[in-house]
Amino acid sequence: MNETSDATPVAVGGVPQHVAIIMDGNGRWATSRGLQRNEGHRAGTRTAKAVVTRCRELGVAHLTLYTFSRENWSRPRDEVALIFDLLVDYLNGELKNLLDQDIRLKVFGEMDDLPFVARQALLRVIQKTAGCTTMTLNLALNYSGREEILRAARALSAKGIQGQALSEEAFAAELYTAGQPDPDLIIRTSGELRLSNYLLFQAAYSEFYFTETLWPDFGPEELERALADYQGRQRRFGKTGAQLEADT
Ligand code: IPE
Ligand code: IPE
Ligand code: MG
Repeated sequence: MNETSDATPVAVGGVPQHVAIIMDGNGRWATSRGLQRNEGHRAGTRTAKAVVTRCRELGVAHLTLYTFSRENWSRPRDEVALIFDLLVDYLNGELKNLLDQDIRLKVFGEMDDLPFVARQALLRVIQKTAGCTTMTLNLALNYSGREEILRAARALSAKGIQGQALSEEAFAAELYTAGQPDPDLIIRTSGELRLSNYLLFQAAYSEFYFTETLWPDFGPEELERALADYQGRQRRFGKTGAQLEADT
């Protein structure tokens, strides 16, 4: 756990450009209170709203929220249905706020497989916020990192891109994140220490912040702690610490 680490301030720049979050622990939050898991998802939606707003205020330009993995289809039907109902309520209720905050919505994942009502609500908000430029909010929905990589490989193959033309840049251009930077910081709540098929290609040099806090209890203050922790780190990208100091 790094929430207790003493961050030493070093000159590594300010706020991360791209923050990606694995919003985990809704179910445990609810059951520890004697509530149905669904109540945890409801509370988690409130946290997501607050975190979106705070990220935008802090100057994060790209925020990616792991909202529903491809593997999450294996959950009980009523839980899956509730998650998509909450998504539709969120989208309908937040459209005005997103526009006011100049936030563009995008989806990472295959939208054709989503429930019709959710797809319609997503398409409406994506279209209406397409011109917003202050922050991009990416919802990873029906998302699988491995499937995203395969999808990119299929697209490159269909375009006949092969041999030396198949560069990292060409590959990245076929991912959902095309045109956006890799996540600088990946946050996972609820004490689980794994990626769960999240942004596998893009996480190559991401910094990680793990916290025991369950997602419904993760507020703007802990977000700021995570960002402060990130700011105290030295990202080396393979170089030595001495080289980096000489560069600055
Ligand atoms: C995260 O919370 C939300 C989704 C995966 C949709 P969980 O529902 O996974 O909560 P836990 O891990 O069971 O506590
Ligand atoms: C990851 O959480 C997916 C989301 C947060 C949407 P899970 O709760 O599904 O992950 P595992 O199954 O514990 O790895
Ligand atoms: Mg979970």
